[in-house]
Amino acid sequence: MAEAVLDAESIVRALQGGFARDVGRAALLQLAATRIRAAGPPYTGVYLYMLHGDGLVLEAFDGRSTEHTRIPVGRGICGQAVAERRDLNVPDVHRAEGYLACSVETRSELVVLIRRHEEILGQIDIDSDVVGGFPPEEEAAVRTVADALAALL
Ligand code: SME
Repeated sequence: MAEAVLDAESIVRALQGGFARDVGRAALLQLAATRIRAAGPPYTGVYLYMLHGDGLVLEAFDGRSTEHTRIPVGRGICGQAVAERRDLNVPDVHRAEGYLACSVETRSELVVLIRRHEEILGQIDIDSDVVGGFPPEEEAAVRTVADALAALL
């Protein structure tokens, strides 16, 4: 597999460092968003939506702001991922049913669930300005960060 643009291991080390310093949940989520987006394209916008009851709440982001600060489970790509309990990699958002637009520039989207065993804690939602922005190696790298968050939150 090709090497990912995203250096997941260094982000995990930063998260572990933050956890050791007891920086708190908000800071860990922000650190994940900021560090993932800092990788640059295909990472245009990074949104940490956490599950509260039957809705997702935007708790941290880096990149373009979004009007979608709360998304009910089942709505949009984000809510669909939770309802179906699976990650969603959408190569072309123009062809996706139920897509909630955040920016007209966005062409592809990746949602990776943050799970602790069977429990879904939330998700890392990432927008890209290119079609097919998230090949398997990028998806795997984001999963590594999501799994670290699940253990540290
Ligand atoms: N596109 C998402 C909404 C979140 S914003 O893009 C940040 C969706 O369809 O659920």
